Amino acid sequence: MNINKNTYFITGGAGFIGSNFIRFLFKRYGNGIRVINLDKLTYAGNENNLSDIEKDFHDNYKFIKVDITDDVTLSEIFKKYSPDIIVNFAAESHVDRSIKSPENFIQTNTFGVFKLLEHFKDNFYKDEKWIPNKRFIQISTDEVYGETKNKESFSEVSPLFPSSPYAASKASADLLAYSFVRTFKAPVIITRSSNNFGPYQYPEKLIPLIVNNCLNKKPIPIYGDGGNIRDWLYVEDNVRAIDIIINRGKSGEIYNIGGGNEISNIAIAKIIIDLVKNYTNSDIDYSLIRFVKDRKGHDKRYSLKTDKIRSLLNWKPETELKTALERTVRWYIDNRKWLENSTDKEYNLYYKDTYGE
Ligand SMILES: NC(=O)c1ccc[n+]([C@@H]2O[C@H](COP(=O)([O-])OP(=O)(O)OC[C@H]3O[C@@H](n4cnc5c(N)ncnc54)[C@H](O)[C@@H]3O)[C@@H](O)[C@H]2O)c1
Repeated sequence: MNINKNTYFITGGAGFIGSNFIRFLFKRYGNGIRVINLDKLTYAGNENNLSDIEKDFHDNYKFIKVDITDDVTLSEIFKKYSPDIIVNFAAESHVDRSIKSPENFIQTNTFGVFKLLEHFKDNFYKDEKWIPNKRFIQISTDEVYGETKNKESFSEVSPLFPSSPYAASKASADLLAYSFVRTFKAPVIITRSSNNFGPYQYPEKLIPLIVNNCLNKKPIPIYGDGGNIRDWLYVEDNVRAIDIIINRGKSGEIYNIGGGNEISNIAIAKIIIDLVKNYTNSDIDYSLIRFVKDRKGHDKRYSLKTDKIRSLLNWKPETELKTALERTVRWYIDNRKWLENSTDKEYNLYYKDTYGE
């Protein structure tokens, strides 16, 4: 099969990872592919994240603003385009928001995945056989495993102990997806990646939030004592891994994708402050850091085993943490307007409600 002829149906492609993935696809396969990007455009989605792609690839790129639970549109897309590869990035993705109001998380992250799986099956499963070369990639998260309590790391067969409503909604979707694998032998693959960072990430998330506050000389809120550890993955390494999984991953399997960069929030904050200070010749320093009341149920550490994707699919992260952070900070400084547009009235209300200032 010529992979270059594939039609991709991407959901949530106007968000952070989805927009990076679509840009990666066109860079890699050019006009040899078609992409249908369905996104509801919540506060975190921004159609302009792909304005370059709209312009350069307008014959092969279509944006549809709709909710992933919309049966009518899903039916139309499956019938009209018969997509080869479905990649579901659409999600409510912010843990803090899921603690305050979980309903949207269940609706999109769990029920939405069920809807997509149903349409996938209704269209491509005939007489108990799957139409060849159709694939469904469910983008999940390391948070489904819960907190790493000892020196162990989680492998793909570790039990799921999600801590937040966000993580529980994603774990529920993984279980549903897996049930389609077991019951119908559905060609579904699940990816579970660690914390991503890079361009186009909505500034409620740690790294762009720190850059934004540094640029505005605003206090930088850090939960608890700043000792929470995350494994940081550069988004370009993640989207490359997803592409490899689509091409060479095995149906029905789960793949962890980790950056191998475990580092505490406070250490990340200091690195970012230093980078912004250097790039902008600013007089900011670590006194911007403000420790705030810890997030409820805050997982101390996440840690992934990534032997499976490394050994079976020959993937490994290629960008050093230092280089990736430099590129990321540089991007937000060069795209300050993007940051300003993202930190709108809704953002400021959310920010005040969460951090109290
Ligand atoms: N960012 C990370 O560090 C990370 C890590 C692991 C896994 N993930 C997963 O990767 C995926 C993408 O994450 P992200 O960081 O790009 O999130 P994001 O919040 O930046 O983007 C999510 C996108 O989904 C869209 N969306 C939300 N609800 C929708 C609905 N009902 N219908 C259609 N579109 C809807 C939003 O408008 C937005 O464009 C998510 O599934 C997330 O769980 C993210």
